[in-house]
Amino acid sequence: MSPATTLTELGAARFVMAIDKMLAVYTAAMNPAASQLAGRRSIMARHATNPGFRALAVLDGDGEPVAFSYGFHGESGQWWHDMVNYALSSSAGAAEAGHWLSDSFEVAELHVTPAYQHQGLGRSLLYRLTADLDEPSALLSTHDSESPARHLYRSAGFVDLLTAFRFSGGDPPYAVMGAALPLRDVRS
Ligand SMILES: CC(C)(COP(=O)(O)OP(=O)(O)OC[C@H]1O[C@@H](n2cnc3c(N)ncnc32)[C@H](O)[C@@H]1OP(=O)(O)O)[C@@H](O)C(=O)NCCC(=O)NCCS
Repeated sequence: MSPATTLTELGAARFVMAIDKMLAVYTAAMNPAASQLAGRRSIMARHATNPGFRALAVLDGDGEPVAFSYGFHGESGQWWHDMVNYALSSSAGAAEAGHWLSDSFEVAELHVTPAYQHQGLGRSLLYRLTADLDEPSALLSTHDSESPARHLYRSAGFVDLLTAFRFSGGDPPYAVMGAALPLRDVRS
């Protein structure tokens, strides 16, 4: 963990109150098109109403967020969950899909503002977010490329469940990854 930063857990209400600051971290980390931000903001607000919602932020010395992560219990009726369930059932069979999706925690976002990257914050957030959960597995999606995020997830025990997966026609290819909980550090 960087000096002069603190990792804090936010309840859903505090997360929603700070959503524009989280969106600023997301924007700095992901550099999305400006046209996507309103939609992203409403998705994040909706996610905060999901069961088992857990959000963490890393604050700098002035109390401003420089990184955040959140997730929630996945269940039928959630767009991401249903898309992945359908695709995994088709490619690996219903039993395999059920194994991963019947009782899972979905890591929805993990972002560190560039000036604070590669200092251990992303790893700390991922491990804390998924610690002491009742769910036996965690799932997430990330761009299907050899990105820092992909390296981090692999090193925490996540394996590819789907690759080259497109959530919609205009999207880049994604990898859907899963790991048994608690996460294990598999760096050798
Ligand atoms: C991915 C991200 C969250 C990682 O957070 P971070 O604080 O920078 O990462 P950490 O310092 O905790 O490092 C964790 C691991 O990530 C990988 N990593 C981090 N930065 C990296 C880089 N520049 N190049 C390659 N791997 C890198 C490494 O595997 C590293 O483990 P190591 O230190 O044992 O080599 C952060 O880089 C980020 O916000 N990126 C942009 C947004 C994004 O891609 N979010 C994830 C969307 S799914």
